[in-house]
Amino acid sequence: MAGTTAITQDLRLSELAPRALQSEIRAMTMECDRIGGVNLAQGVCDTEVPAPVMQGAIEAMHAGHNIYTRLDGIARLRKAIAEKVRWFNGIEVNPDTEILVASGATGGFHAAAMALLNPGDEVILFEPFYGYHASTLKSMRMQPVLVPLARPVNASADWTLDLDAVKAALTPRTRALLINTPSNPAGKIFTRAEIEALAQVAEEHGLFVFTDEIYEHFVYGDVEHISPATLPGMRERTVVISGFSKTFSVTGWRLGTVLAHSKWLPAMNYFHDLTYVCAPAPLQHGAAAGLEQLGPEFYTQLAADHEGKRAKLVSALDDAGMKPFIPRGAYYILADASALPGENAALKARWLLAKTGVASVAGSAFFRAGHGEDLLRFCFAKKDRDLDDACTRLRSLKSE
Ligand SMILES: Cc1ncc(COP(=O)(O)O)c(C=O)c1O
Repeated sequence: MAGTTAITQDLRLSELAPRALQSEIRAMTMECDRIGGVNLAQGVCDTEVPAPVMQGAIEAMHAGHNIYTRLDGIARLRKAIAEKVRWFNGIEVNPDTEILVASGATGGFHAAAMALLNPGDEVILFEPFYGYHASTLKSMRMQPVLVPLARPVNASADWTLDLDAVKAALTPRTRALLINTPSNPAGKIFTRAEIEALAQVAEEHGLFVFTDEIYEHFVYGDVEHISPATLPGMRERTVVISGFSKTFSVTGWRLGTVLAHSKWLPAMNYFHDLTYVCAPAPLQHGAAAGLEQLGPEFYTQLAADHEGKRAKLVSALDDAGMKPFIPRGAYYILADASALPGENAALKARWLLAKTGVASVAGSAFFRAGHGEDLLRFCFAKKDRDLDDACTRLRSLKSE
C-alpha cells in the first residue's frame, strides 16, 4: 500500500461541497425523535392524502404504469394541470409545450435555473428566504442576493417589500428575481401593488422572474394569491414553479410543476431529464386523478382546515410568551423567542425542545448570518391530534 498516502492526498471534495452536512432542521428532527417529542420543525405535512390521489396512484401501479414516461410528464397530467392553472391561477398554458411535470418543485427549480442562468449570475431573493432557493443557486455557482423584507410592525401586520432595497441590489449581473408567494417561512403573500412594482423592475432591467407558488392553496382570510405571470407583459419572463407535495400531502412522492414559455421549456426539460429522466410514473396518475376529481371545494376546505390549525398554534405561542407574526399564507409561523434562554436561535430551539418536547427551527436558518436569532419557526401542517399535543406542551411554559 506504498502509494496510498500520495493518492489520498489527491482526493478531495469539490469546491462547492459543504464541509458540514447536518442541517439544523434534520438535527432537530433526530433529537425530537430520540426524546419522542412533537416535530413542528420540518414542513412534512402529515395530513391525509386525498382519496382520489391515493387511489389513482395505486390503480396506475396495478395497470402497469411503472415505466418511464415522456420526459415532461404524462399527457393526462399535463392536460389536467393546464385546466387547473386556467381556472385557479388565471394562466393559459399549452399542455404540450409549456408544462414540465418535475421531480418536485425542487427538481423543477433546479432544471429551470440550469436552463436560464449562467455561473456568476445574480438572483434576488427576499429575506427571510427558503434555504433551498439559495443553496440550489449556489450549487450551480449562481449568486443569491438577499434583499430584506421589512419586519411586521405588530403581530397582525405583514412583512413588506422595500422597493428601494430591491433597486439598490441590482447590478449588471442581476438576471432574475425569485418571488416565493405565499412564502416559507414568513407566510408572506405579495400584494398586487408589490408584484406590479417587481414586474416593472423586471421589465426595465430585462430580468427573468421565478415564482415559487407551492403554497398557493394555503391562503387565509380575504387575502388574494396573485400569480405574477398573470400581470401584463409578465408571461414570457416568468417561470411558475409549484407542485403537489403540499396540496395533496405527498411530500415524499416528488411531484412538481414548472410552467414556462415554450421558448424556455425545452431546455428545462433537457436538464430535468439528465437528472431524473421523468417524475414517478404511477404517482403522476395519482396527481392527475386528484386534479380531475377534486373540485374547488377541496381547495377551499384545505385552506379552511389550515386556517383552523394556524389559529390553534397562534394562540398557544401567544400563551407561551412567544409573540407570533401571524402568517397570511403557507403553514409556518415565525415567533419571537427572545424571551427564551439561549444566546442564539439554535440554542433557543434546543432549549425549547428539551423543556417541552416541541421541535422548531432556528430563525437564523432563513436569514443572512447574524440575523433571525430571536425567531423560531413552527410548522402547523400537522394532524390535529399532534398539533393539540404540541400546543399543550408549549402552554406548559406559561406555568414556569
Ligand atoms: C417554498 C418551498 N418551495 C418548494 C418546496 C419543496 O417542494 P417539493 O416537495 O415539491 O420539492 C418547499 C418545501 O418545504 C418550500 O417550502
